[in-house]
Amino acid sequence: MRLAASILIGLCSALVACEDPDLPCSACDAPGGGGAGAGGSGGAGGGSALVCPASGVYHGPWALRFDETSAVVRWDACKPGDVAITLTPEAGGAAQTVTGTQAPAVLTTSHQLLDIPPDVPGTYYTSEVALTGLEPGACYTYSLVAEPSAGGRFCTAEPDGGPISFMAIGDTNPGIAPTEDVLANVLVRSPDFTLHLGDIQYYSSVVDSWSQWFLSMQPMLSSGGAFMPSIGNHESENETEYTDYYDRLFADAGFDGNRRYYRFQSGGFWFFALDTESSLAPNSEQGIWLAQMLEDAQAQPGFRGSVVYMHRALITVGDAQSDPGLRSVLEPLFLEHDVRLVLAGHMHGYERFVSNGLTYVTSGGGGGALGNIDENVDERPDEAALRVASAAAFHAVHVEIGATSIDGAAIDETGAEIDSFSIALP
Ligand SMILES: [Fe+2]
Repeated sequence: MRLAASILIGLCSALVACEDPDLPCSACDAPGGGGAGAGGSGGAGGGSALVCPASGVYHGPWALRFDETSAVVRWDACKPGDVAITLTPEAGGAAQTVTGTQAPAVLTTSHQLLDIPPDVPGTYYTSEVALTGLEPGACYTYSLVAEPSAGGRFCTAEPDGGPISFMAIGDTNPGIAPTEDVLANVLVRSPDFTLHLGDIQYYSSVVDSWSQWFLSMQPMLSSGGAFMPSIGNHESENETEYTDYYDRLFADAGFDGNRRYYRFQSGGFWFFALDTESSLAPNSEQGIWLAQMLEDAQAQPGFRGSVVYMHRALITVGDAQSDPGLRSVLEPLFLEHDVRLVLAGHMHGYERFVSNGLTYVTSGGGGGALGNIDENVDERPDEAALRVASAAAFHAVHVEIGATSIDGAAIDETGAEIDSFSIALP
């Protein structure tokens, strides 16, 4: 699949210049590609029949919305079925069966091209099991009763001061890049949860569909702990994709916000998933929420610091926009409220900046065609002066938060560390 995709992308890139850094080339607006601004439902696959497995389990499962004693396991089904999981504590103990609910949804998004599994319109069933009474700082494995081979692992939030391990990945386009190899080399570090930095799936790359994405990315969903996404521009590549996929399957991942932005905490560290497709101006709904929630987090017992993550970077000198105006407003807010790390994607490469002691990481290396990480070095000298590391590489970032430091490593598809950093904690 990746070889064929590479040939296709190479051909179209040779023929047509790219205008959107997220797109391999504008030929990707071809019928069925669902390219930027396509406006329709993105595909020529309206005539394809859904191949629904006997179990009905179609996409997933994955975990989300976790705290110290609860979590949610979710999956997508293509027909009504048994909504139950078998839950087992990793530390030992009896397995238990927990039941949940299914909600039908009529999808209209259609996408079919090449030989990838198509996204077919029809009625699907969002399936969810809510777990309560869990142990803090404990990891659990689960399998679906309807399909015992489908399952995963998640961890509850650590008690205050507990160690934290997470993965961050952005711009995941497994059809055209070694995303699966990147995942394999990071998941061996057993992250407690995964932050997605947006642009989860790319119809515009021609060779991805959600059905293909779930096949390629299931190791992350199963082994990466809870999946805690942020919204990218490619979550809305046509009129129906956002509602049919992101909002239906991934929204409500955290707490205290809404279906587009939220926060959660583990071990006294608070994580803020922002929506850069909506305004973050100080007087915007999200901007007001962010200021209030940062202050509220700082006032909580056991507070140690915060991590903010989003899709579009506040600072980059690669081939994507930066936002120095917004950064000039948010950075003082972040510093005042003990934000220690800011993560973003969108620019397809790796960058690390340090500004006034605050670390910003651009991690858009999950598979989208690699961009020019130096395109705006000369145009943005103030930002370039703050960049301390960069690489044009597919990668994900693994971060561990311990008693005295935040330690991160950017890991490529061979397992090599292309950068590492340590942020001292007071
Ligand atoms: Fe993007």
